[in-house]
Amino acid sequence: MTSGNPSVLAKPAVIKAGESIDPVFRQIRDIVYKACGIFQLDEKLYLLVDGCGRRMKQLGLTNSRDYWNLLTAQSSRDAELRHLLNELTIGETSLFRSQPQIDALRKVILPEIAGEKIKQITKRLRIWSAGCSTGEESYTLAMNMLEETEGLLKGWTIEILATDLNDRSVETAKAGVYGDYALRSTTDYFKRKYFTPLDGKKLQVQPEVKKLITFSRLNLQDDSKMLFMKGMDLIFCCNVLIYFDGPSKSKVINHFFSNLNFGGYFFLGTSESLLKLNDQFHLVHFPGAMAYWKPSLKSGKL
Ligand SMILES: C[S@@+](CC[C@H](N)C(=O)[O-])C[C@H]1O[C@@H](n2cnc3c(N)ncnc32)[C@H](O)[C@@H]1O
Repeated sequence: MTSGNPSVLAKPAVIKAGESIDPVFRQIRDIVYKACGIFQLDEKLYLLVDGCGRRMKQLGLTNSRDYWNLLTAQSSRDAELRHLLNELTIGETSLFRSQPQIDALRKVILPEIAGEKIKQITKRLRIWSAGCSTGEESYTLAMNMLEETEGLLKGWTIEILATDLNDRSVETAKAGVYGDYALRSTTDYFKRKYFTPLDGKKLQVQPEVKKLITFSRLNLQDDSKMLFMKGMDLIFCCNVLIYFDGPSKSKVINHFFSNLNFGGYFFLGTSESLLKLNDQFHLVHFPGAMAYWKPSLKSGKL
């Protein structure tokens, strides 16, 4: 902290090298870590200090100890923690963030899954976008699945569950309104077919796309909720686990493994891997992308 009195926060500030950190923020870091798996190393602790500072300003508090009291008192802790987590998560995303993943999905994985389900009377595909931020990944998946319902997935029911920790992101996702930055990798074909122009430069996702997706708040570290996410054919958890430490990552990945159907696939962000975290999944390489496969019962590779 920059203040002479360590427990007084004058304004949100970046911690500079050599500066001492108010111990209250290390305690708040532990609360945040236990709640959602996000752990800020000392060199990134300014992100947490700034987030707390924004909440304290909104609440009219100047003393970090008072904020700590609010975060720990039985009557206020759950609600305040939720507000704080909304300040701390990083939601960088865009539509069509990884075209190679979409190509792998449409050219290889969907034909394989469709083949596995050929004898099922009700054809259903369940996809989970875990850590969906403001919805761009989920809508990308939905539009591509709609394209497939004109061919390979004709007559199939497509269900996309899109979840995030951040309440504000979930609300933005439900609205489905995007500007140039989010749409920078979206082709004119998709823009024309699946969006409606909205006041000026923004585009809104059309109802037929929204219809495929259910958005909700879900904390990936909440074991009791994770147990109820079974029966997925595909799980996308891209650019989320980078914020977790090893044990938090492993716990979530074990849930994903048990939540996937046999023969299902799990996608991470392009710079992420399961190296040293899980040896039950089989790594599968595609041009420009990779995915993790839960061996099917028929494959004999269990
Ligand atoms: C960088 S965004 C990734 C968005 C999208 N998946 C993508 O790759 O474009 C990371 C998201 O993970 C979410 N997140 C972080 N910790 C989480 C947790 N414990 N449970 C659920 N979501 C979490 C954040 O709220 C944020 O929206």
